[in-house]
Amino acid sequence: MEKTSIHGMWSSRLAFILAATGSAVGLGNIWRFPYLASDNGGGAFVLVYLACIFVVGLPVLIAEILLGRHGRRSPINTLLDLTRETGAAKAWAGIGWIGIIAGVLILSFYSVVGGWTLHYAWLYLMQLFGGAPISDPGATFSALLADPVELSLWHAAFMLVTVGVVALGVEKGLERAVSFLMPALFLMLLLLVGYGATTGYLGQAAAFLFQPDWSKVSGGVFVAALGQAFFTLSLGMCTMMTYGAYLPKNVSIPKTGAVVAVADTGVALLAGLAIFPIVIAFGIDPAGGGPGLIFTSLPLAFNAMSMGVVYGLLFFGLLFVAAWTSSISLLEPATAYMVERGRTSRRKAALTMAGVCWLLGLASVLSLNLLSHVRLLDRDIMGLIELVANELMLPLGGLLIALFTGWALKESILREQLKGMSPVLFTLWRWLVRVIAPLLVLAVLLNVLL
Ligand code: TRP
Repeated sequence: MEKTSIHGMWSSRLAFILAATGSAVGLGNIWRFPYLASDNGGGAFVLVYLACIFVVGLPVLIAEILLGRHGRRSPINTLLDLTRETGAAKAWAGIGWIGIIAGVLILSFYSVVGGWTLHYAWLYLMQLFGGAPISDPGATFSALLADPVELSLWHAAFMLVTVGVVALGVEKGLERAVSFLMPALFLMLLLLVGYGATTGYLGQAAAFLFQPDWSKVSGGVFVAALGQAFFTLSLGMCTMMTYGAYLPKNVSIPKTGAVVAVADTGVALLAGLAIFPIVIAFGIDPAGGGPGLIFTSLPLAFNAMSMGVVYGLLFFGLLFVAAWTSSISLLEPATAYMVERGRTSRRKAALTMAGVCWLLGLASVLSLNLLSHVRLLDRDIMGLIELVANELMLPLGGLLIALFTGWALKESILREQLKGMSPVLFTLWRWLVRVIAPLLVLAVLLNVLL
């Protein structure tokens, strides 16, 4: 008999694509990608990033989805089942623990930044009704970061909308949310790229993004690009494994995975093409923008544009929606695990995990103001959490997932889950997860550690 998930199932292939793309497309694409490109030499970074997506990211994405669909449970239990079934060491289930811990760490700061997007969307909404304009964007941004109470409240609001969706479950919560949020997101993005084109700087933006300056490629660029590839595809912490657990049997994993990877990459590049023309048109240096890039430069542009308030609302609304459909995917794996442990309803499980993440997020909030002097390895607390989660735990999780799928799993399971994949592609995929992806990830991990 076919196994199904106790948490519910996606009602169709499209529902999965929207949910997985919703998870993948987030702050990583619209906030992080542009400033990473900006800080790491534009085109040089983008090319390395694209290579990482298709050589490492897509194969690992396929691996995660197939593990999830075979096990049909939360990551830790799926992995435990699989180790039993294949006679592999139980220790592999540690991948699930890495995932849950990384998820809590990521959601803690993700929700803080999600709070910024809500705050900005709110500022523009108020402006529409006669509120004060953001006349000095640099000062507005600094003032927000300097105020721990304000930050904690927006962080709380963001966490509440996240938990609200997850508490409602897979079909009534996640699927329903993404099926109207994702189309809205694509529409907003296209409108903004359309505006970018009217500035006359689309060509210059494209040149900045796509003309590689090889002298800028360094070990650091590789570390940033691979870390970003994992982060943007939501890999390495079993999010995609969890979403795979709810995927109907008859859907092709490689094709669906490819759609998600291409859509995610497309959104990042489009976001770049929406943002950089505006940045350039308003005489801001596209290089070296840092995490504040879009929060400090775009409002300048929106001030000077006709209908800038509407565009501002659109942009930060877009960013909020993108962050929201991602944060639910950060909360879902831990919630599903708690439900399986028993004695808790989904509602209580989601609230508990969100509470833990909110509390931990206060560390990131304080690192922006009262505790900004606390620094280690040249990073503040928020930067350190990001370093541990994004640059260490995600690649490590991805490495172990690739090795487990490639070497420990019975070939019959792979063939059953990847039925319909052409033999050539199957072999290619298998060697990518067995050898190529692990070696590349290992090289990057060593680069971070040494
Ligand atoms: N991919 C999302 C983004 O680009 C963030 C995200 C959601 C994520 N779920 C994840 C990152 C799981 C790593 C792992 O913003």
